[in-house]
Amino acid sequence: MNVNVDRLQEGLRTKRFGKNIIFLREVGSTNDLAKELAGYGAVEGMVVVAETQTVGRGRLDRGWVSPKGGLWFSVVLRPKVRAGEAVRLVFVAGLAVAEVLRELYGVRVETKWPNDVLVKGRKVCGILTEMNTTGEKVNYVIVGVGVNANFDVKKVFPEDLKTVATSLENELGRKVRLEELFRALLEKLENIYALFLKEGFGPVLGKWKTYAGFLGCQVEVASGTEKWVGLALDVENDGALIMRLEDGTVKRVFVGDVTLRSR
Ligand code: BTN
Repeated sequence: MNVNVDRLQEGLRTKRFGKNIIFLREVGSTNDLAKELAGYGAVEGMVVVAETQTVGRGRLDRGWVSPKGGLWFSVVLRPKVRAGEAVRLVFVAGLAVAEVLRELYGVRVETKWPNDVLVKGRKVCGILTEMNTTGEKVNYVIVGVGVNANFDVKKVFPEDLKTVATSLENELGRKVRLEELFRALLEKLENIYALFLKEGFGPVLGKWKTYAGFLGCQVEVASGTEKWVGLALDVENDGALIMRLEDGTVKRVFVGDVTLRSR
């Protein structure tokens, strides 16, 4: 990735996020290293960023392909909220990414429940939040963000991902300045996280929904071995996706993958 950490930190307008950055050419997973460091007491805002990940991880035990040219990083958070609240941090991160991509590059971004950021229906960023708790007490949360930035997905991704993923390079037809993107993301994440801590989830969810192109659409939701088809009605304050199924019943889904069937 070739981020010059000193230069990045000089221009970084944050209080805590990114004041400590560990940059590695290669790592298994930035989330795993951040977790380990958090276990040793790493402070809130510490960041691990890597040029490539050899075993990048996605949601639901999937892998995450992490070639050179992407932005792969994880932030340690120590929110003083209960575990049930902290699960909403995935929306904080999704909103931060959506706003930054729109502001920096003017692309039409969409959020997709629960953790994706899309451009023209294809995934440009994924977010993996992982929590360590003692009962309802949150010890730390790792927010891992993967942005497909400076590579061509058609050249570097496996066949099955080529039609569902995209990159900033594919969308903009040029490479982006990773340092600028990284700095903007850290600043935005810190701001939206502060909003979440101060005012609760409502304002964050409200803004997140303004990007949620799937709301009002026919979707298919897969969760484990189950599958539901229906209209995506809303995302509620507890983070659940509300659907109206084809038989008219209303279903609340907490974990799953959404595929759009029609707009
Ligand atoms: C998903 O969409 O399934 C989530 C993908 C999250 C990928 C990022 S890349 C940085 C961090 N380290 C990981 O191993 N995963 C997250």
